[in-house]
Amino acid sequence: MNPVILKIGGSVITEKNSDIPERAKMGDIDRLSHEIAEFKSGSDSSIILVHGAGSFGHPQAMKYKLNLEFNARGAYLTHVSVKKLNSIVLESLNNAGVTSLPVHPLNSCLLDNGKLVHFQLEQIKVMLERGIMPVLHGDVVMDRSKGAAVLSGDRIIPRLALELKASKIGAGSNVDGVLDENGNVIRKITPSSFADMKKHIKGSTSTDVTGGMLGKVSELLELANAGISSRIFNASRKGMVSKFLYGENVGTLIADK
Ligand SMILES: Nc1ncnc2c1ncn2[C@@H]1O[C@H](COP(=O)(O)OP(=O)(O)O)[C@@H](O)[C@H]1O
Ligand SMILES: [Mg+2]
Repeated sequence: MNPVILKIGGSVITEKNSDIPERAKMGDIDRLSHEIAEFKSGSDSSIILVHGAGSFGHPQAMKYKLNLEFNARGAYLTHVSVKKLNSIVLESLNNAGVTSLPVHPLNSCLLDNGKLVHFQLEQIKVMLERGIMPVLHGDVVMDRSKGAAVLSGDRIIPRLALELKASKIGAGSNVDGVLDENGNVIRKITPSSFADMKKHIKGSTSTDVTGGMLGKVSELLELANAGISSRIFNASRKGMVSKFLYGENVGTLIADK
């Protein structure tokens, strides 16, 4: 069955703006686990969860300048940190009744000069066949040319969605959607309307070595061009992940026309 891909931003599940690294928002993580569990109890559709790193991983990646140069110790510390968050998320999901297993991009992805050239998806397919929810995350990944680099959760999604023929894609962040210059939610973005809106969409305001909102929209527009639409919505608000899973029109729709 065609899976739903749900991305939950590091901004939702961690304290991203505080100076203290590695602070998980346990209340939000448990709430999301229960929203997913409740949906899954009444549906046999499969879900792949991809979560961001937030205050896990980003501080280490920044300290060791992983986006600029190779650093073996920085790669190690970044991976250890994001794996801690992944374990917290997995424990919460499994406690809520969603049988889930981790898939670490460090072990299943390969980059070449920043480009994703290999993604081992066979394990994910078997998990889905057996009713297990694969849980991926932003990670440090080996790069044939650069040694190692950060691969964000947002960048994992297009490849997963195309190869596994996702039925729908949702990116939950800490804002109500993509906002215009007045702070209002833009209901729909298409490749042709993006040109006008681009100047209002920026990176992240907090500790984030990846693309923030602009990176997210760019990745999802690539998918829209391939005929797969997606939504960016506020997963920090109670019930929004649930609404997305049940098919409500939440946040910003990114579509081809
Ligand atoms: N036009 C915009 N609309 C919404 N958010 C924006 C916009 N421009 C910049 N941002 C920033 O992007 C952030 C979301 O990206 P990011 O911090 O990477 O979230 P996540 O942790 O969900 O990946 C928002 O919190 C906001 O600060
Ligand atoms: Mg981000």
